[in-house]
Amino acid sequence: MTRITQGVAILVLVGMTAVLLWRASRASRLSEGPPPAGASALVARIQHGEQVYNVHCRTCHGVEGVGGFGPSLAGLERKFADEVILDRIRFGAARMPGFDAHLSPEELGDLLAYVKSL
Ligand code: HEC
Repeated sequence: MTRITQGVAILVLVGMTAVLLWRASRASRLSEGPPPAGASALVARIQHGEQVYNVHCRTCHGVEGVGGFGPSLAGLERKFADEVILDRIRFGAARMPGFDAHLSPEELGDLLAYVKSL
């Protein structure tokens, strides 16, 4: 190997190392501070609640709770306490069937988190 090719090879190696180091430090900076565990757990519950909603509630309350046969569910959290909403879902009302027999406690809780997010 001539001196020139040796020199070029060393330069290339140094350059590649610098790029790798830069990318590694950037990656570690990006992964710093993961979102708080509580927040991502809530997002997961809301996503599951949406699936439950789409199966049992969407036909009457519309896509994302905009309303239809049943009233809009937007801003529910400001109108009712959690217990009132849960009671309505479990036991129904005049024209709304109750879902107590169809939903597990987990599904019920996740559904509550979803409808409160609307
Ligand atoms: C067969 C249609 C129907 C289905 C299915 C249905 N609802 Fe309802 N819902 C209604 C109607 C109609 C009302 C208005 C009260 C009444 O007339 O009984 C209502 C009222 C409500 C209310 C009270 C809203 C308010 O502002 O008073 C909530 C909360 C609610 N429904 C949630 C749900 C959820 C969550 C599901 C799914 C588990 C669901 N509903 C499934 C028809 C339905």
